[in-house]
Amino acid sequence: MALGKYSRVDGRKSSSSYCSTVTLVVFVALCLVGVWMMTSSSVIPIQNLEVSSQDSKNKVKEQVSESNPSSENNDTIPKQFEDNPGVLPEDATKGGSHEKTQKENNTSQNSNTFENVSDSAAERNQEENPENKPKSEGASKTETENGERRTEDGESKMVDTDSEAGETRKDNSDGNSGIQGNPENDKKSDSGESEKKSEENTVMKQDGDKADGRIEVDGEAKDLLSNEVFPSGAKSELLNETTTQNGAWSTQAAESKNEKDAQKSSEPNQEVVYTWKLCNVTAGPDYIPCLDNLQAIRNLRTTKHYEHRERHCPEDPPTCLVPLPEGYQRPIEWPTSRDKIWYRNVPHTKLAEVKGHQNWVKVSGDYLSFPGGGTQFKHGALHYIDVIQQSVPDIAWGKRSRVVLDVGCGVASFGGYLFDRDVLTMSLAPKDEHEAQVQFALERGIPAISAVMGTKRLLFPSRVFDVVHCARCRVPWHIEGGKLLLELNRVLRPGGFFIWSATPVYQTRAEDVGIWQAMTELTKSMCWNVVKLTKDKVNKVGIVIYQKPTSNECYEKRARNEPPLCEESDDPNAAWNVPLQACMHRVPVDASERGSRWPEQWSARLEKPPYWLLSSQIGVYGKAAPEDFSSDYEHWKHVVTKSYLTEMEINWSKVRNVMDMNSIYGGFAAALKKLNVWVMNVVPVDSPDTLPIIYERGLFGIYHDWCESFSTYPRSYDLLHADHLFSKIQKKCNLVVVVAEADRILRPEGRLIVRDKLQTLNELESLLKSMHWQIPFKYSKDTEGLLCAQKTLWRPTEVETITYAIG
Ligand SMILES: *[C@@H]1O[C@H](CO)[C@@H](O)[C@H](O)[C@H]1NC(C)=O
Ligand SMILES: *[C@@H]1O[C@H](CO)[C@@H](O)[C@H](O)[C@H]1NC(C)=O
Ligand SMILES: *[C@@H]1O[C@H](CO)[C@@H](O)[C@H](O)[C@H]1NC(C)=O
Ligand SMILES: *[C@@H]1O[C@H](CO)[C@@H](O)[C@H](O)[C@H]1NC(C)=O
Ligand SMILES: *[C@@H]1O[C@H](CO)[C@@H](O)[C@H](O)[C@H]1NC(C)=O
Ligand SMILES: *[C@@H]1O[C@H](CO)[C@@H](O)[C@H](O)[C@H]1NC(C)=O
Ligand SMILES: *[C@@H]1O[C@H](CO)[C@@H](O)[C@H](O)[C@H]1NC(C)=O
Repeated sequence: MALGKYSRVDGRKSSSSYCSTVTLVVFVALCLVGVWMMTSSSVIPIQNLEVSSQDSKNKVKEQVSESNPSSENNDTIPKQFEDNPGVLPEDATKGGSHEKTQKENNTSQNSNTFENVSDSAAERNQEENPENKPKSEGASKTETENGERRTEDGESKMVDTDSEAGETRKDNSDGNSGIQGNPENDKKSDSGESEKKSEENTVMKQDGDKADGRIEVDGEAKDLLSNEVFPSGAKSELLNETTTQNGAWSTQAAESKNEKDAQKSSEPNQEVVYTWKLCNVTAGPDYIPCLDNLQAIRNLRTTKHYEHRERHCPEDPPTCLVPLPEGYQRPIEWPTSRDKIWYRNVPHTKLAEVKGHQNWVKVSGDYLSFPGGGTQFKHGALHYIDVIQQSVPDIAWGKRSRVVLDVGCGVASFGGYLFDRDVLTMSLAPKDEHEAQVQFALERGIPAISAVMGTKRLLFPSRVFDVVHCARCRVPWHIEGGKLLLELNRVLRPGGFFIWSATPVYQTRAEDVGIWQAMTELTKSMCWNVVKLTKDKVNKVGIVIYQKPTSNECYEKRARNEPPLCEESDDPNAAWNVPLQACMHRVPVDASERGSRWPEQWSARLEKPPYWLLSSQIGVYGKAAPEDFSSDYEHWKHVVTKSYLTEMEINWSKVRNVMDMNSIYGGFAAALKKLNVWVMNVVPVDSPDTLPIIYERGLFGIYHDWCESFSTYPRSYDLLHADHLFSKIQKKCNLVVVVAEADRILRPEGRLIVRDKLQTLNELESLLKSMHWQIPFKYSKDTEGLLCAQKTLWRPTEVETITYAIG
């Protein structure tokens, strides 16, 4: 609908003829566009008013309970996530009793209030600086105001182009196009913008090409360079001179380039920003710092609840770079990658050996191939997916059911094939050095994270998944009062389905029958309704489908309050380092509350502000929440179509796995809807908690703290997008740490797009260049900038041994 507003393309081609006459106007237009693009939209987390962040939620949580796994326990518990008994015998048993130790209001360390927030993080490493948040808020707010003010100053003519509010824009442009009173302005502003961009593009590309591989940049030269890039009226002529003649006066671009070339030739002793080293760790090229902290794992008192697969982030996050596997090649592109990947990229044969007979993975020549199966669907995931829908038509893949959680995902074929049904699947499995399931999934271009159902809540808000699926995931749902199943209950939408296909559903061995009985009892007491018990005859498996209630009626009617309802004070959305609890949250019934209704069908839900965003609430950018949401979406559609898709020399058909490192409403991901990509939306724990909104619109994401490493394998994303993230985390932790993490996550030749304050951007650029990254695109205006960087295959030669990761 809103696209029309940006489709006024007509004037663009002829635009250059206007240049000489209306330089001034163009200049003004450029300023405005620049300001709008850089600031307005991307102005971040300003208001924590209506949405509290994960950080603050935890605080509350932490006082509530801390699970204290008792170290001796006799129950034998099925292994989790594993199909194959041979692989991890030590995990085979885990304990049964979990007692909550502290629930007193006894205020010692643990009774944090909402205001006294920073403690929860104290267990971990960062967060020295509680004042940071307010400060950054202040800063960005000022900028918005500037932006707005400037817009106002900037002549009535320009109102149309891009004042900050999507709404305003819409109104104005409608008005204008209706009247057509001012066609010249229209044209000029549009053409101004595109022209400006392509010019910069050219400049930067040249610069990049010629200065390829240079290691350091003189700070001063950089500043001048960025000035150079910026439109002054005479810009185009100046640039022409640069390329055509090096006559009487040279341009800054040329000077800087020469300077850099000179520096390059006298390379070693120039100011090297940072000396990178290669990580020497036991996990080698598969290093995940928070999951491979072997020292912390050795010190665990117990591993009965899979503590050794949970996150244990090092106090001093590594700043070394992860080595490449031998023979690493650019990953095969989607959708071919769903069927086969390079063996050398993920050289783990164990899974192939073990699972070979199950038709998961095969080694064939240089490839690992995935015949489309999984243990539960040897004869085709698509068949299995369709059987599910036939048995419960309400599931309606790709309409009612859009966002799925797949627990213990194997190689994630289920999620991989659900793409064909317009369904987005978050797959999770524990990191396992033998099987590397999640690594296969990501290499295939299928979303997945390394996570375990252990002692802590999953890093998702409550009531966000339309469907939760577990095929033979071997999570012991029925034990310990159903604690783990109750966690699924937390993240499942009221009215959502739990699909379970595992041997207890359809086999008659004594163990299976026992588990089936326990599950039947448990799910009944949880008020889950058995919707269907069905068979996939082709794959020869049984499937049971439960539905979570949409009201509290059943809870209230239960003879025993078991499992208990959670305390009213228990925030179901608190998920960051929050211990699991064996209780159920009430279903929201108030019509204005999230969860009281099912979202719109896909894909209407992508564009509409959720019904529970109220105009009385203030959004992250300071407008009423629903407008905030909409203008964010308009903004990102604009940025993506005008800039990311066209101006950055990114070949999007090579992009598959995308991460938005600082999602607000998921607008960036929504704007990529038409592309063949998926986007992991990360909501930092110290940002307003907008993750439920992202899910409500049919996208997915996770909470994270960027001072720690992300639970993904190295080289798993093609593109990272960081909108005003680095300047923010810079205040919390060392930029080098975050840059090293970005390098770890990104595939060679992958891109990092950063929009941020110029100062941060310059620092970042030096760091990136010192890792031999290329900077094919750069743009800045006043204090704001945009940068697109590309990782290379370069690795350092020096080695740093990370002792806590040596085992
Ligand atoms: C554990 O099991 C063993 C044998 O199965 C039994 O002798 C012992 O008493 C049990 N311990 C506890 C704490 O239940
Ligand atoms: C907890 O606090 C409440 C009120 O603050 C008080 O009435 C109660 O006695 C306290 N309980 C304990 C165990 O300290
Ligand atoms: C809190 O409880 C612990 C034991 O549960 C006790 O030792 C301590 O004195 C209590 N503190 C206060 C302030 O009541
Ligand atoms: C809360 O913070 C205030 C000021 O930062 C401090 O004086 C107070 O002791 C803190 N309270 C707790 C329980 O940490
Ligand atoms: C700029 O360069 C283009 C070709 O590169 C040329 O056609 C144009 O005339 C030049 N403009 C000026 C002002 O030199
Ligand atoms: C890596 O660490 C191991 C264990 O500390 C050590 O034996 C080895 O020499 C190190 N490798 C390099 C290249 O430093
Ligand atoms: C983009 O990548 C695809 C697939 O690798 C390739 O076929 C196509 O030619 C590329 N396009 C451009 C413009 O490089």
